[in-house]
Amino acid sequence: MAPLKVSVLISGRGSNLQALIDACATPSFPARIVKVISNRPAVEGLARAENARIPTQVIDHREDKDRTAFDSRLHEALLEAGTELVCLAGFMRLLTAGLVDAWRDRMINIHPSLLPAFPGAHGPALAIAAGVRVSGCTVHLVTSEVDAGPILAQAEVPILPGDTVETLHARIREVEHRILPEVVGELIVA
Ligand code: GRF
Repeated sequence: MAPLKVSVLISGRGSNLQALIDACATPSFPARIVKVISNRPAVEGLARAENARIPTQVIDHREDKDRTAFDSRLHEALLEAGTELVCLAGFMRLLTAGLVDAWRDRMINIHPSLLPAFPGAHGPALAIAAGVRVSGCTVHLVTSEVDAGPILAQAEVPILPGDTVETLHARIREVEHRILPEVVGELIVA
């Protein structure tokens, strides 16, 4: 079977993108990254894609008059790349219901908490503030409600005494780098 064509959406560091790039380097891995799209120019994740000779595109949301205009450029770029699966990996923009519906069951996100706990942009900080002993990460299908779609995979990460947002998030990222490629490698996209 032909490998699944994945487009990865990023906004920054791209360490999860790197984990997918590394997984795709194994010939038997059943997916390939066909495009990396960032809503921010000159971020580290774009350099990671370029190093791996993956086509990149910057779609800067500041150039669009509203979310619908941005999302329609995104949609076109995804179609143009022949995308079969969209992977949000540190993509820090809310998407319109129209775009989410267009990619229903074909768009996944990685989130740094055990959803449904601590959705939103500050998962690790919220977990520390709440005083929980265990956090983790979640890969889920994207629906129009933020961080609330059906869960595909989760893994726990303990919160250690003295953890800061940075140390916790760094340990969560290590686990994300394992579960995200696992999900992409096992996903059956209709
Ligand atoms: C990850 O922790 C991911 O769960 C969250 O944003 C972070 C992105 O990290 N959505 P990176 O850009 O992949 O390094």
